[in-house]
Amino acid sequence: MSVADKVMELAKRRGFFWISAELYGGVSGFLDFGPLGKLLKRKIEEKWRYWFVLKNQEFVVEIETPVITPYKVFEASGHVGHFTDYMVECLKCGRKFRADHVIEEQTGLSGLEGLSEEQLTSIITERNVKCPECGGQLGTVKKFNLLFQTTIGPYSENVGFARPEAAQGMFTTFNRVYNVMRNKLPLGIAQIGKVMRNEISPRQGPIRLREFTIMELELFYDPQEPSCHVLDKNEVLRLVPEDSVAKKDLTPLEVTVEEALRKRLVACEWLAYFMVLAQKFVQELGIPWDKQMFVAKLPQERAHYATQVYDQVVKLEKWGWIEVSGHAFRTDYDLRGHMASSGEDLRVYKQFQSEVEVEEVEVRPLVDAIKEDYETDASAIINALKMMPGERVLEEIKSKGFFEMGGYRIYPKHVSFEKVKKNVKGRKFIPFVAEPSFGAERLVYASMEYAYREKDGRVILSFPPDIAPIEAVVLPLVNRDGLPEKAREIYGMLSFRGLVVEYDDSGSIGRRYARADEVGVPLAITVDYQTLRDDTVTVRDRDTWKQVRVRIEKLPEIVEVYIKRRELKEPLKKLFE
Ligand code: GLY
Repeated sequence: MSVADKVMELAKRRGFFWISAELYGGVSGFLDFGPLGKLLKRKIEEKWRYWFVLKNQEFVVEIETPVITPYKVFEASGHVGHFTDYMVECLKCGRKFRADHVIEEQTGLSGLEGLSEEQLTSIITERNVKCPECGGQLGTVKKFNLLFQTTIGPYSENVGFARPEAAQGMFTTFNRVYNVMRNKLPLGIAQIGKVMRNEISPRQGPIRLREFTIMELELFYDPQEPSCHVLDKNEVLRLVPEDSVAKKDLTPLEVTVEEALRKRLVACEWLAYFMVLAQKFVQELGIPWDKQMFVAKLPQERAHYATQVYDQVVKLEKWGWIEVSGHAFRTDYDLRGHMASSGEDLRVYKQFQSEVEVEEVEVRPLVDAIKEDYETDASAIINALKMMPGERVLEEIKSKGFFEMGGYRIYPKHVSFEKVKKNVKGRKFIPFVAEPSFGAERLVYASMEYAYREKDGRVILSFPPDIAPIEAVVLPLVNRDGLPEKAREIYGMLSFRGLVVEYDDSGSIGRRYARADEVGVPLAITVDYQTLRDDTVTVRDRDTWKQVRVRIEKLPEIVEVYIKRRELKEPLKKLFE
């Protein structure tokens, strides 16, 4: 049995997670989290909050916005147009599959992202790719939009979507949060919440879900002041840059942040900063440095909003290198989209000390051409174009052939440019955005796989103590002579302190230790006859199975320090050496 299968079996049997709606045969892509899984997931979310929000609280705030979002938002963000995968249907059994996955599995070809429907259909025909379920012939490849659609209220025309990312909640509230935070940049807006993606045929258990928890942060900064004041450029990143990916060489480079920025392997300082934090965060979940790396996405593989993306991947036994977070340089793509669609000015104003003369490129919308192509939306587009930074519009039209905002494409025929000199007292600009984005459920699974050990025929989940779902278990040695009463007293004392504790008095002491080890409880506290004489208990370490005797009055502090106080974790570990 593979470690992955053993972890999945344990996850179900001991109540971490299992497939949802099991009663009705289960629905792939959805998970139920049981008591232990919920505790573990919450701790992973708390750890993310520590690394990304609390450590940066000088400039990062957390918000919460709804899952159901009006159509307009995802039209403006580009998801209605671009958030698609390719689907193919079996002409015999009618089942539908993700075209690139079926091709990859049967031919070993990779790097299919970016190919068109026609190219994928040709590969299926030429390489004789068949239905993975019944062996039947496959039809032509079609696009499938992954947004979950619903209606808001009883009006069928009032279409809404379940959000596929939390990010749009940060973009649509940007101006309000910016005002609340006293108009200062850099500003990070974070959110942890549920998102949904209507995956075509998810078949990787907890790895590919249709509903999952995203932990996401949008960092807004002034593109003319791109330095990150909290970045240590001596930190080392383990990454596979774009040109290596293009050559299919996935050997990671170990480079300092300074070098990564100098060689333009990483597009901006803020992206590098969050990549450094991501490495530390994932390491603290028990996944070693050499089992994780960042892999660049090629232009055709990147999300529509990003000019650079690194996936942070971790090595899993059965599924190989799996993405646990994405680090996207989103520039001003999203805010300008919302400006074009809403008509609102989302630019930030920075006042100068005194008036200065500037020379800049201004966009001149060509009204007739825009009206001809965009009819009723023309006036909103013309209005938005006047607010766009001329240099960027020009640069994107030169490099891509068009400038995109809010689902509208602006071609050379729609605009002219003029260089103007003027005296100004300040400048208005659209902030740039760097985004780290994590999936919580994959991290729950990965941390379980990395915690999994077998020793003397027994299973131990060696979670780092601060993510262990249950922090301590209290055990009376035997079920008589006043030991259960004393153990319950200690259990009450620890749970009163807010610790997650379990009381267990059923079965032999050996079986109870084994049960606790199997779900990763770091400390087992045993009440024995000596306890009644001198108010001491034994404390047993999950990983070494060593025991020490401590006074009951010291217990809460010892457990708290061992579980929560990061800086004292190491010295305390010595207790058990
Ligand atoms: N916002 C990151 C993602 O959609 O994957």
